[in-house]
Amino acid sequence: MSSQSKVKRNTVSKIAARKGGEPIVCLTAYTAPIARLLDNHADLLLVGDSVAMVLHGMDSTIGVTLEHMIMHGQAVMRGSHAALVVIDMPFGSYEESPQVAFRNASRLMQETGCTAVKFEGGTRMAETIAYLTQRGVPVMAHIGLMPQLVHVKGGYRVVGRRSSEWAAIEADAQAVEQAGAFSVVLEGIAEPLAVKITKTLTIPTIGIGASAQCDGQILVTDDLLGLSEHTPSFVKKYSDLAEQITHAVAAYAGDVRARRFPDSEHVYGMKLVRNNKVS
Ligand code: KIV
Repeated sequence: MSSQSKVKRNTVSKIAARKGGEPIVCLTAYTAPIARLLDNHADLLLVGDSVAMVLHGMDSTIGVTLEHMIMHGQAVMRGSHAALVVIDMPFGSYEESPQVAFRNASRLMQETGCTAVKFEGGTRMAETIAYLTQRGVPVMAHIGLMPQLVHVKGGYRVVGRRSSEWAAIEADAQAVEQAGAFSVVLEGIAEPLAVKITKTLTIPTIGIGASAQCDGQILVTDDLLGLSEHTPSFVKKYSDLAEQITHAVAAYAGDVRARRFPDSEHVYGMKLVRNNKVS
């Protein structure tokens, strides 16, 4: 048995048990090499449908398919050994009925080996969350700003900044907890409401553009690394990899054009043959 296979993957119950305790560190991952780098630091890796914009250059998450999510999910599972891996259900793969959602969630689990799925929707998806969890599919819910509704809402708008909006969002939070979700992402929710929901629920809340009082945080990894073209205001950039890549690539291009690369260290010489022995 390899040492890697001895490492036990984080579980849904361990994440759920962190309610009110040590904050849960979550990050997005879409590829094996990035999953490998994040695995020792994150409790949970989300193969988010944000892959549509981040890796595939799409305008929104709408264009990403179940096949995309399976391919990226398999890569993240190969690259990670410790973090719990959750895969987003893409637009069109779960909304029609609980049965369709189950069929597609079971494909994600069987074809990637991931532990859980995530999809958007509060009260309107409660029946589906219950159907899936009762049949062996752990569900992470996602409420507040729901990017898959971009065309219905006409954009991405933070919610809960008016007190008149609170009741519906609180009802969403209650509905997903009662339906059996093991945790819930609170995206783009005004801080006081995110705090109130976190205090009220018994399942962990994972904030993004919400509050430090949430039970955990998630960010799109490329945003915090400084790889994204536009960085949302709620993101703290921990690095500027875009700048570093630009410098590295410019240096390489300069070396190639000046014939400085490859130099003697980076080419293969001849083998010496003496008395029929190669050295
Ligand atoms: O798709 C995604 O990356 C997400 C997170 C930002 C929560 O849903």
